[in-house]
Amino acid sequence: MKSSRVLLSTVVLAMLLAVAGCGQPLSASPAEQATTVPSVKPKKTYKDLIVGYVQLGDESEWRSANTNSVKDAAAQLGVELRFSNAQQKQENQISAIRSLIAQQVDVIGVAPLIETGWDDVFKEAKDAGIPIIVVDRRADVAPDLYVTLMGSDFLEEGRNAARIMANLTNGQANIVELQGTRGSAPANDRFEGFREILKDYPGMKIIDSEDGNFTVAKGKEVMESFLKAHGKNITALFAHNDDMAVGAIKAIEEYGLKPGVDIKIVSVDAAKGAFDAMIAGKLNATVECNPLLGPEFLEMALKVVNGEPVPKWVPSQEGEFFASQGADQLKQILSTRKY
Ligand code: AHR
Repeated sequence: MKSSRVLLSTVVLAMLLAVAGCGQPLSASPAEQATTVPSVKPKKTYKDLIVGYVQLGDESEWRSANTNSVKDAAAQLGVELRFSNAQQKQENQISAIRSLIAQQVDVIGVAPLIETGWDDVFKEAKDAGIPIIVVDRRADVAPDLYVTLMGSDFLEEGRNAARIMANLTNGQANIVELQGTRGSAPANDRFEGFREILKDYPGMKIIDSEDGNFTVAKGKEVMESFLKAHGKNITALFAHNDDMAVGAIKAIEEYGLKPGVDIKIVSVDAAKGAFDAMIAGKLNATVECNPLLGPEFLEMALKVVNGEPVPKWVPSQEGEFFASQGADQLKQILSTRKY
């Protein structure tokens, strides 16, 4: 009787262990016990990071400042940066992203040349488990294909340029416009934002508008053609960036008119060239667009790699600067700026 009770309790215990999935001896060795402790993945630091940055080119002062900001921040923080310059070609940017995917970097930052055409390559990065951070210019893709966008509100920049122009001209102007690279987010948005405000000013007319590709040389060339076509009828210029305004200023002077006086000029970026032109009284105002995104870009990269939440858009903090502030004040401000 006693022996059958012992046998029964042994069978019950064996069944309970089997149900609990514990087919192992009750006392595991220290090595076996260690494997059962839940493992916490150690957080990466900047020094562990390998980050790709796919720059679109070097068309402007803004672009050089952006490149330097990313390179300097990586050097300071000890991040391994794999940088490429696409020389204004989207196909170069796409192959650079593919190469970074093959290299299995931790994060890829991209400043997209134009808005469209990114779906496939961004999806390839996502499928490979490599997060994309869009820097500066927006890409027209589904939100799940990138982790965050860092950069300016280009639409608001266009609106602010129009508000400033309305003040400078008392709402009466024949405006020519130098657009940034066709199909790029800043060109699309500055174009749209400018027109949005102009709707309230029937005396302000855009009499010509062309692509100046964000460069000094093209800005000069297109301004020459505007002057040839419209001559002294032009009373105002909106340039989508400072470099094109600087080129246009040369064209206006060569034509025999006074930039900033005969033709009021507003541009975007607030780069050194714009400050020099405002100090000389040749540019009336510039709306700031901040290129110094390097430190924040790497901060976002580290957060993303460590699984920390990041906002979908990290907007830049920006101001406006005017020739009317006076040369002394502008010189003082310029001495504190990095670009
Ligand atoms: O995307 C930002 C724009 O690109 C800047 O306004 C311009 O100067 C640059 O080329």
